[in-house]
Amino acid sequence: MAFEPRVPSPVTELADERLAPSGVRLYLKRDDLIHPEIPGNKWRKLKYNLAAASEHGHHTLLTFGGAYSNHVRATAAAGHHFGFSTIGVIRGEEHLPLNPVLAYAVERGMRLVYMDRATYRTKTDPSVVEDLRRRFGEVYLMPEGGSNALALRGCSELPPEIPFSYDLICCASGTGGTLAGIALSLAEGQRAIGFSALKGGEFLRDEVRRLQAEYGRVTDNWSIDTAYHFGGYARRTAELDDFVRDFGERHAVTLDRIYVAKMMYGIFALARQGQFSHGTVIVAVVTG
Ligand SMILES: Cc1ncc(COP(=O)(O)O)c(C=O)c1O
Repeated sequence: MAFEPRVPSPVTELADERLAPSGVRLYLKRDDLIHPEIPGNKWRKLKYNLAAASEHGHHTLLTFGGAYSNHVRATAAAGHHFGFSTIGVIRGEEHLPLNPVLAYAVERGMRLVYMDRATYRTKTDPSVVEDLRRRFGEVYLMPEGGSNALALRGCSELPPEIPFSYDLICCASGTGGTLAGIALSLAEGQRAIGFSALKGGEFLRDEVRRLQAEYGRVTDNWSIDTAYHFGGYARRTAELDDFVRDFGERHAVTLDRIYVAKMMYGIFALARQGQFSHGTVIVAVVTG
């Protein structure tokens, strides 16, 4: 079947009485509805990478991720739909049976190889990359999380899809690529906030700048909020779980707990604290 991403993704206003005192108007950009197998920022990041891979005659995509990586999963699906072989370099050692993310990737034809954690930390060093090329031949290599200049180009297509004026766009951040791309195409006066899903997310400030420099344009219309990581990557608390359950009951939207829920919690918390001026129009990107 032809691959048909739902782009532009829908934008819907969220009616939530908890926001009323702050005067904030909140919209959801439903990128999670782009495609069931390659949703959200995954599709936006892969789109131009797939085009570049095929333009340069590559048959194999190779990428990196942890054992629960949405990007690894989406790359496996993209290989299946667009006719590439795929290799996933997974951090750490193999655990059998495979978890649902990796089992799905294998089902979609991905070959998994495991890299010990020490080597994984140096995976962008030329010697490690050379070693992978020696092992696997001419592969199209995408970094962890799929974040590179072409991914930024894909993510920069999001803001112009929003058919009304707004002040602020929010997304969750893991590698910073989505935020870096979104910030590239904001209008004068608009700003973007990336909510770090990781503890110690301060490093993302350098990463977003580095990615934008790789793209060729560094902007100063974004910031990183590091206060809502809930203990770190994939960590959760009873408070976050309650927020997700309550949000689901109010709005019939199931928030992804690793990324999206932390951003949403952060937006509501900042609104409650009076951090947004009255009447601020916010678009929150549901990235997955
Ligand atoms: C659902 C979801 N939202 C947000 C992110 C973070 O995006 P980025 O790595 O571009 O900061 C990810 C991970 O890539 C994700 O899977």
